[in-house]
Amino acid sequence: MAAKPVVKRLVVLVSGSGTNLQALLDAIATTGAEAYGAEIVAVGADRAGIEGLARAERAGLPTFVCRVKDYATREEWDAALAGAVAAYEPDLVVSAGFMKIVGKEFLARYGGRFINTHPALLPSFPGAHGVRDALAYGARVTGCTVHFVDDGVDTGPIIAQGVVEVRDEDDESALHERIKEVERRLLVDVVGRLARNGYRIEGRKVVIQ
Ligand code: GAR
Repeated sequence: MAAKPVVKRLVVLVSGSGTNLQALLDAIATTGAEAYGAEIVAVGADRAGIEGLARAERAGLPTFVCRVKDYATREEWDAALAGAVAAYEPDLVVSAGFMKIVGKEFLARYGGRFINTHPALLPSFPGAHGVRDALAYGARVTGCTVHFVDDGVDTGPIIAQGVVEVRDEDDESALHERIKEVERRLLVDVVGRLARNGYRIEGRKVVIQ
C-alpha cells in the first residue's frame, strides 16, 4: 500500500485584509491538501475585527487574537503568541501581512520555520512601509520577497522574490495592488514547495530539496 502523503500543518498570522491568506486557502481547496502538501490548521491575528479573520471563519478554521495591549510587556505578548500558535502544533508558521515583530521566545520555537512575505525586494525597503518607501525613493522596479524570519527586521534568509515594475502614474495603493498579485502567487508556490519537498537553510541560502 502506498504511504499516505504527509500534509504539513500551517498556522497563518494576519493583521489586515488577508488576501494572501485567501490565496493559500483557495490553492489548498483547489489542489487538495495532500497534493498541495499542507493544510491551514488555524489563523491568528494581533487585532480583532479584520477581514483576514473573517476569511478564516468563513473557511471554518479556528482563529485566535493576541493583542499587544492585553499584556504588561512585549515579552509577555510574545510568549502568549508563541503559546497560542503552539496549541495548533504547526510545522510552518506564515506571516501573511502580520504587522508585528515577534520576539525571542517566538523565534526560539519557530526560527527556521517562520515565513514572512514582504512587499519589496529585500534588502531594499524593509519595515512597515515597503511600498511607500520604494515609491518615494524613485525605484523603477520593486516587488515582493518571501523569506524566513530572523531576529532582525526583514533580514532573514530569502526564499523567493518577484519583480514588479513601477509605473510613472503609480501611487502607493496602485503599486501595492500589482505587487500583491505577484506576491499571492509567489507565496502559494513557495509554501507548497517547502511543505512538499522539505528544505535546508545554509547560512543565507535556502535550498528547497
Ligand atoms: C502584503 O503585501 C504583505 O507583504 C504586507 O502586507 C500585505 C498584506 O496583504 N506585509 C508587510 O508590509 C509586512 N512588513 P493581505 O492582508 O491582503 O494579505
